[in-house]
Amino acid sequence: MLNINQQQVTLSHTSHGSLYGKGIYLVTLNNGKIEVSITNLGCTITAIHTPDREGALANIVAGYRHPGQYRQNDYYFGCVVGRYANRIAGGKFAIGHEQYQLSVNNGTNHLHGGVEGFHTKVWAITSFIRREKESGVMFEYLSPDGEEGYPGNMRVKVKYLLDSDNRLHITYHAVADKQTPVNLTNHSYFNLTGFDTPVITGHLLQLDAVQYTEKNAENVPTGNILSVAGTPLDFSKPARIGDGIDQFPADRGYDHNFILTHAGSKVIPAAILSDAGTGRILRVYTDKPAIQVYTANWWDGTIRGQQGQMYGQHGAVALETQSFPDSPNHSRFPNTLLSPGQAYDSWTTFEFAV
Ligand code: BGC
Repeated sequence: MLNINQQQVTLSHTSHGSLYGKGIYLVTLNNGKIEVSITNLGCTITAIHTPDREGALANIVAGYRHPGQYRQNDYYFGCVVGRYANRIAGGKFAIGHEQYQLSVNNGTNHLHGGVEGFHTKVWAITSFIRREKESGVMFEYLSPDGEEGYPGNMRVKVKYLLDSDNRLHITYHAVADKQTPVNLTNHSYFNLTGFDTPVITGHLLQLDAVQYTEKNAENVPTGNILSVAGTPLDFSKPARIGDGIDQFPADRGYDHNFILTHAGSKVIPAAILSDAGTGRILRVYTDKPAIQVYTANWWDGTIRGQQGQMYGQHGAVALETQSFPDSPNHSRFPNTLLSPGQAYDSWTTFEFAV
């Protein structure tokens, strides 16, 4: 175990065996109040321990008990999702006259990067960051030309940085040698009670969104942009997640893509999640144009999580900052094509408070 003591934020890492001949590590960032654990398997946040208003620490994200379990992370706990998060209709898109067929892994559609998306890869740890009042780790993955059907070699770097103000900054950087769609997110699921309460229906959610992308029965955008006003999707003011969660029987809860009004703002959060019982508050900031809210609708109580409890339906909520789903097939959606010579750069910050 390597232990690097920072002025305020410490960083340590431990080895957890290997997969495909590559070492699996758990990196821990600790600022004296909050501890974030990350494994290079899937570039995954495995735990975030934060204090409640009494100072009691709990892990507020869904995760497995051992890093090795992330090799079969079917619910995408905490991982980086890519190359393209969310769905691409039929797994098909065209760039110019060239047609592409991606792997299909969700009905007839491509979901979250395909059968072996970025969440299944053993990422390289390329550096540790040690600065005054912040510590972090940089991961890198080289996605080969044709992987899951995507064009071009793509080099992707993800940085996790914890600062002394209880903010976890995630930055994404990618370059490719052919035009390719890119949409990277982190798929952490939050339960601010640390799963002491097994459902998040009592949490309050506020979103910086007055519109959402309408979707069809297969969860693929129709192309229409609709207003949330007067619907159970109106989180423009804080609303109890449980109040509207039964209004979407086909989805079994919330699974919707909200368009952010102030994307890029470091002042106006994209999302604020809070739990009155523990006092914990999560604020999410991002430069991405949208956020997918998914309330763990298909969790079936068969996984015993890191906290010791079985994870059941509505056990947590994922707040996935991202571009609009299926953008490669909607010319009116914000561009998601990365061209050679350009860089994909994006950031999301999780801020923890009580
Ligand atoms: C998607 C859901 C999907 C889930 C899989 C979410 O990001 O929005 O539709 O079922 O990931 O865990």
